[in-house]
Amino acid sequence: MLVLGIESSCDETGVALYDTARGLRGHAVHTQVAMHEAYGGVVPELASRDHIRRLVPLLRAVLAQAGAHKSDIDAVAYTAGPGLAGALLVGASFAEALAKALAVPALPVHHLEGHLLSPLLATDPPAFPFVALLVSGGHTQLMRVTAVGAYELLGESLDDAAGEAFDKTAKLLELGYPGGPALAKLAEQGGPGRFRLPRPMLNSGDFDFSFSGLKTAVLTAARERPLSAAEKAQLAWEFQEAVTEVLAVKALAALKHCGLARLVVAGGVGANRRLRERLDAATAARHLRVFYPELELCTDNGAMIAFCGAQRLMAGAGPLGSGAFAIRPRWPLQELMGV
Ligand code: KG4
Ligand code: ZN
Repeated sequence: MLVLGIESSCDETGVALYDTARGLRGHAVHTQVAMHEAYGGVVPELASRDHIRRLVPLLRAVLAQAGAHKSDIDAVAYTAGPGLAGALLVGASFAEALAKALAVPALPVHHLEGHLLSPLLATDPPAFPFVALLVSGGHTQLMRVTAVGAYELLGESLDDAAGEAFDKTAKLLELGYPGGPALAKLAEQGGPGRFRLPRPMLNSGDFDFSFSGLKTAVLTAARERPLSAAEKAQLAWEFQEAVTEVLAVKALAALKHCGLARLVVAGGVGANRRLRERLDAATAARHLRVFYPELELCTDNGAMIAFCGAQRLMAGAGPLGSGAFAIRPRWPLQELMGV
């Protein structure tokens, strides 16, 4: 079965073809970073309009990569939420219309489920059950995953998500947009300095997170006096240390709590090198294993959506939405339980 995946929830247009027998056959992403840069963040209307421009050329490119024709497509999966309403509508209308024209099923997919299952696309995928640490721009969640569609939320961010904290802190340090990768890059030039930031909720005894206070602490430190370039790097380093320490400690605690040996990390912050270093070290020391998606599949892409749709189709799961244009800009992943 050949499943087309369409991702358009935010500022990346992703299109991919996943073959249930042969794996990923084509995948292409267009990022809108350059377009939003001038505004210091994503402008939803511009994002929607750009998705419209990109979808057809990306579909053509992916079909060519796969050596396939659109009549070979057996189902069209698309991100139905959560995300920006206008951006989601573009992908939903495109996918639903294409599916109708090809007389194949359209499969609305939950964006976070896409991220969650994306490590299964790797050459050495994890087996179920596992604990998933989902760290994206909009969500920070720890979950026990026993099968496709069986997700138990263990804990989540009570305020800013990890990626959001990276982005907002980067903005405070005037690192531009997108802030997360820029802040991580600056942190690599830093090291221990005079800054000491809190490790929020490190010892809260649960699996919840809170990162918004860190941003305020960075703001306070930055306002004390003008920072030299070296101090800015030290502050970025300390911020990254604080976030990654809390994420790693809680992820390890979640594994212990569930009595599981496999940890899966998904979402944009999963690309963070320091987080990977910490998780690799902590799991190796305890004979546990951590799995990541391929680096290019950490951030938003169509491959994870195609894969997720294919899994649901193969599992015989019913459609998630009520039909055409069933977008859900706000959509708690927990609602997928038992679907
Ligand atoms: O999963 P994703 O592509 O989009 C959402 O669904 O949110 O994640 C994007 C988030 C952004 O907040 C971005 O700043 C963050 O992931 N990010 C990083 C890194 N690469 C991307 N944060 C820290 N270090 C990185 N290397
Ligand atoms: Zn995402």
